[in-house]
Parts: sequence; structure tokens; C-alpha cells
Amino acid sequence: MCGIVGYIGQNDAKGILLNGLARLEYRGYDSAGIALLNQDGIQMTKVKGRVAVLEEKADEGISGSLGIGHTRWATHGVPSIINAHPHQSGTGRFIIVHNGVIENYEALKREYLKDVSLISDTDTEIIVQLMEKLFERFQDTRTAFCETMKLLKGSYAIAMIDAEDRNTLYVSKNKSPLLIGIGEGFHVVASDAMATLKETNRYLEIHDEEVVLLTSDTVTIQTLTGEELERESYTVELDLSDIEKGTYSHYMLKEIDEQPFVLRRIIEEYQDENNGISIDPAIRIAMQQADRIYIIAAGTSYHAGLVGKGFIEKLAGIPVEVHIASEFNYNMPILSDSPLFIFISQSGETADSRAVLVQIKKMGFPALTITNVAGSTLSREADYTLHLHAGPEIAVASTKAYTAQLAVLVLLAVDTAETKEVTLDFDPIRELAIAANAIEVLTDQKETIENLARDYLTTTPNAFFIGRSADYYVAMEGALKLKEISYIQAEGLAGGELKHGTIALIEEGTPVIALATQVYVNYSIRGNVQEVAARGANTLIISMDGLNEENDALVLPEIHELLAPLVSVIPLQLLAYYAALHRDCDVDKPRNLAKSVTVE
Ligand code: G6P
Repeated sequence: MCGIVGYIGQNDAKGILLNGLARLEYRGYDSAGIALLNQDGIQMTKVKGRVAVLEEKADEGISGSLGIGHTRWATHGVPSIINAHPHQSGTGRFIIVHNGVIENYEALKREYLKDVSLISDTDTEIIVQLMEKLFERFQDTRTAFCETMKLLKGSYAIAMIDAEDRNTLYVSKNKSPLLIGIGEGFHVVASDAMATLKETNRYLEIHDEEVVLLTSDTVTIQTLTGEELERESYTVELDLSDIEKGTYSHYMLKEIDEQPFVLRRIIEEYQDENNGISIDPAIRIAMQQADRIYIIAAGTSYHAGLVGKGFIEKLAGIPVEVHIASEFNYNMPILSDSPLFIFISQSGETADSRAVLVQIKKMGFPALTITNVAGSTLSREADYTLHLHAGPEIAVASTKAYTAQLAVLVLLAVDTAETKEVTLDFDPIRELAIAANAIEVLTDQKETIENLARDYLTTTPNAFFIGRSADYYVAMEGALKLKEISYIQAEGLAGGELKHGTIALIEEGTPVIALATQVYVNYSIRGNVQEVAARGANTLIISMDGLNEENDALVLPEIHELLAPLVSVIPLQLLAYYAALHRDCDVDKPRNLAKSVTVE
């Protein structure tokens, strides 16, 4: 959600900014812009739409060795050129890009900017106009910048240029991610290291409520009150090939295909030398001490949490509640005496999850984050972290992060069971390896699944996914995948619930996709399929070897029933992918969606 890139150095910033913005496209956005400073002053280009359009427009000879760029996902004000960033102060002296939401922008407008006529509908413009006001008072850019930051309430990552100073780039953040990249004779700023990995792999963290002043050769980090700070840089262990599509037409397909490797990598990362599970002993203790676990997550990660509840309850015997992050703080359940909170988040940046983390930390409870992004906010602010090791996930629709979340959750559950000396007839390492092979079998059946997508989903306005028990949660995930990228209205339902309402929507030809991978509900889910078929539904059954019946559309290789959600999701991911492809949708960058949802 929104992306920032900045550059200060000797080279022309334009290519670096445009390339960086293209790398941030995956986060989701609807307009984009860049501003460059050279001896002739500020040159700005903004567009509504894609970075490729910005690139064409910026071709009109703009240049400068100090610049900032932005992709905007609209919150305050519609997507338009006027609302796109960068924003400029009234005199044009200060130019800013911003991610996040300024909660007190109305109050700031009333108190400080009564006499200023604002051009855009954004909260960002308030910041830059305020900056100009405070500059009038302090006559010093650094002081005015710090004073402006002090007045902001909410989340922000900000990069600012002073058009009178070609040697300094001003940066600050609070709750929104922003990094400094360090190069030879230049510095970059980015919401995500992926944006500037081509330039450098050395990065510096900025902490909340800090101001950073960058020149080509120096980095000055200070608190808002002016106290200077020292910080070590770190090397980002990412390879450019990890973030490129290679021969794939879409990141989503590449990421679907990567799932067997991800499972094998997780096995490697979490296996000890005796083929047992190696997990941070502090996490073991936290799990043992918990009388109840509260899983907090959003979107696909929430669905992983629902499956994870089954793992933890069945294997480790600890009761688990799974909550949607955006609901939890406003509708908090009665908590147990000794709760452990588990935050599941691919990005580690989801603002709703972070709000819960902040709240429960205030209440003094322990927190574990399961995330794909080391150093992300949820990872830094929780007591413990388990990494997914899935490699960067760039397609907006999450695929490999989901299977990685399930794999890590099952390892955590088994490890907890073992520390509690529960005897299990379940070897998770072996079963995950079998699941990885089963996924490979399915990703080799793309043609079959593409044909199913063509037959069932090319023209339909809606689709239903049904399942019982763990299959129900996978049905929810299948429906989410389909609606995210193909815009087909889709619902994932417990098979037994159909007749309590949704069956009214079944008409001649309505697609109903059923999962049948769980032995003790196989008979009843097939009964639900009969009920909708009798009303004209176009039914498609995905079952598992051993539970299959004649006419099932797809039969998954046999794997341990508990891990079926890792494998049954694969055909649903592929169905969504091909449905979106046949409907000419932008698979990797679906409309209105963002990969990393950094506003509440
Ligand atoms: C967005 C993404 C989803 C993701 C959800 C939760 O909606 O588009 O793919 O599942 O956020 O994100 P998280 O990073 O916390 O897993």
C-alpha cells in the first residue's frame, strides 16, 4: 500500500526512482509521481494509473540527482493527478511524499492552515503546507521539519526535498515502514529494500519518530528533539532473481510453483541434527505457559490461522481462538489468565494486526509473530518471531505464504506437543515432505486445471466453494483467491450452512466447487453437492486419493489428512489464476487491492 523511493547522489535519479516504483507496484496503488531537483528547480511528473505511464510521461527530458517518487493507494481523496504525490507547499519550496494516514489532519488544518488554500483532498498536503508555515517561523529547514513531525498524529513515512538545497534529503517515519539504503557516494530511501536492491544491499533501519538527513555521503539520524544517534547498517540477504519473474508470465504462477521448494526450505530451517524440530526455546516456554492462544490475522493469513487452530488444538491440546485483526480491539473477548498472542502476517506490516499488538503489549501479554519479512514491524515489536522462509511474495494474491504459514504452524504445534510430552503418531517432517511432493504433482496438472477454470469460471458472475471441517477453511481461501483476482463474486461456505440461506442463490449453471479431503465428513459434503446439483448447480468435486468417487474432477495424491489444507489449496489457487487470465484481469495487480495494508 503506497510506496516511497528517494535518491540523493551524483547520478540522475530518474531511472532509479522509476525502477524502484515499478518494484513497489506489487504493494498496490492507483496513481504515481516523481519529483526531481536540479539547477533549474523542481521538476514534477504525476499520473493516474500505472508506473509505465509515468515512465512515458517522465521521458520528456526531466532530470536531477536528488529526487523522490511515490505510488499512491487512495485513502483521502479519489485517485487523480491532483491527489497523487509528490505534494508541494504553497510557494513550491517544499516537496513531499508520504505513506500512512495523518489522523489529526483536520485539526491541523483548522489550527495552522486557515489562510492556506489547499489544492488536493489529501492529508499529505497538510504536512507540506504545515512545513512551510513552520519554516516561516523557524527559518531553518531541519528545525521546521522536526517541528512538523512533532505535530503529526497517526502513521507516516515521509521523504521531503527543500528546493533551495540540492544537497539534503529529509526523511522521517512513524509506524509506516521506511529504510535507508547505503551506497558509494549516494543514498536511497525505500519503503521496501526490494525497490532499491539493484542499487545496494546495505540498509539502515529508521525507528519511529526519528528524523534522518541524507546527503550523498552522510547519514544523520536524530530524534525529533535533536539528539543524534548512531546505528549499524545490515546486509539484506535477497537476490535480484528472488524478485524477478524470470520466464513466468506472472509472479502469482511463479509463487504457486515455488510452494514445494518453500516447504522443503522450511523443513531445512526448522529441522535439528536429530531430525527433530528446532524452535527458539523461549517460544517453547511461551507456548507451554499459555492456557489459551489467540491468533490475530487478516485475509489469507486469517484463513491460515483457522487451519492452524486445528493443528494446535489437536496436536498440542491448547485451546485456540482465531480473530480478524480489524475486529479484535473493538470487540475484545474475555481473555484467559495466561494468553499467548500469535500474529500471522505475510508482510509483517498489516496495520490492523499492529494495532492489536500495541494494545495487548500495553496489557502486558506475550506475542509471537509468524511472518515472511524479517525486520518487519510485527516482527520487531513482538517478543518472538518465527520466519516463513518463503522468499519475497510479490503477487498481491497470497499463495506460497499461506502454505508456509501452515507448515510453520504445524511444526510449532508438534514441537509444543513434544515439550509437553504428548505422544504423537505424526512425524511432521516426513508428512511435510510428502505434502511438498503432492503439490508438485498438482502444479504439473496445470492444463487440466486451466480447462476446469475455462469450463466453470470464464463467464459466471458468481461461484461457491464448500467444504466441511478443515476443508471449510480452504473453501474460504479458495473463494478469496477467486474474488481477489478474477472479480467473480465468490463465497466459501461450510457445506452444512448452504441450506440455511445461500442455496437460494443456486441457479442453473451456478458453479459450486466442493472439497472432499476429510474422511469423517466425506459422506456429508457429497450430500451437500447432491443438494445443489439437484437445483441446477455446475458442481466440481476435488477429493483425495482414497476418498475419491467416480466423476470427481480432480483427485489429490494421498497425504496425511491433517495437512490436506496445504495441498487442496493448490488447485484453488490455480483455478483462480486461470479464471483471472481468461477474464483478462491483471493477475498480479488486481484493482483496488494492496499487498501490504499499512492503514487501519
Ligand atoms: C492484503 C493482501 C492479502 C493478505 C492480507 C493480510 O489484503 O492483499 O494477500 O492476505 O492483506 O496481509 P498480511 O501481510 O498481514 O498477511
